[in-house]
Amino acid sequence: MTYPVFELERVGFNYPYGEPLFTDLNLKITAGEKVCLLGANGSGKSTLLKMLCGLVFPHAGRLQAFGTQIDEQLLEDDQFAREYHRRVGFIFQNSEVQLFTTRVEDEIAFGPLQMGLDLETVQQRVNDVLKLLRIEHLVERSPYRLSGGEKKKVAVAAVLAMNPQVLILDEPTNGLDPKSQRWLIDLLLELNQAGRTIITATHHLDLAHVISDRVLVLSEEHELVYDGSAARLLGNKDLLIQVNLLDEYYHSHDQGGHFHLYRHG
Ligand SMILES: Nc1ncnc2c1ncn2[C@@H]1O[C@H](COP(=O)(O)OP(=O)(O)OP(=O)(O)O)[C@@H](O)[C@H]1O
Ligand SMILES: [Mg+2]
Repeated sequence: MTYPVFELERVGFNYPYGEPLFTDLNLKITAGEKVCLLGANGSGKSTLLKMLCGLVFPHAGRLQAFGTQIDEQLLEDDQFAREYHRRVGFIFQNSEVQLFTTRVEDEIAFGPLQMGLDLETVQQRVNDVLKLLRIEHLVERSPYRLSGGEKKKVAVAAVLAMNPQVLILDEPTNGLDPKSQRWLIDLLLELNQAGRTIITATHHLDLAHVISDRVLVLSEEHELVYDGSAARLLGNKDLLIQVNLLDEYYHSHDQGGHFHLYRHG
């Protein structure tokens, strides 16, 4: 069954003492979608994701999640907040800020324990995600002393242990080697196949193409200027240049135009 997960209506937002960031943001995301938010640095991707996760709140307009209007007061209710963060899992752009225990195992067990699950079920979940993420060997380690990519995997494991309906990942492949990137993308696609809603943010066009079937583009003026397929977006060179997602690396060979993240050698 499809139902709206998030609905933003005329949302306005600015950081304290900052210029208005969003002034009239409208967006609907339905259960089971895989959506990727694309935009240049500073376009507002992380801010929008944080809003969906209930970490910052609209100053104007309204945000609904699972049919309930979300505001700061509601998220101050511990019980509501706990349930909300269980349903909506968030992997930060920088995993460092998300890890806070001294053992990987405790890090992963924290969410399920907060949910009030019995110890046996918690242990089962911890073992399952350690295996799924192929990080059994890290279980006794301190999260602070892991490499950037390992930290990211632990952060993903900790969120997956709560079995969220919606997974929100900010720059999911940052810090991962190519094999781990491919593996994480495949995992997200599998989770989506199993019914999870997957929302990601990136400034890598090629990632948006493989990780989503709906791309939203935020302009440098923080406006949603595109909502559609990655394939159609890739054909819109003018828009890509306008939103600063493409530059001189776009070029043509005999077989037609294409782009690279880096210049040919
Ligand atoms: N905590 C904050 N306080 C004040 N301004 C902020 C804060 N966080 C972000 N901003 C500003 O809001 C704007 C959008 O930032 P945001 O982090 O959402 O962009 P982004 O699209 O995720 O960028 P990047 O690709 O670099 O991660 C930027 O101009 C940024 O400087
Ligand atoms: Mg960001």
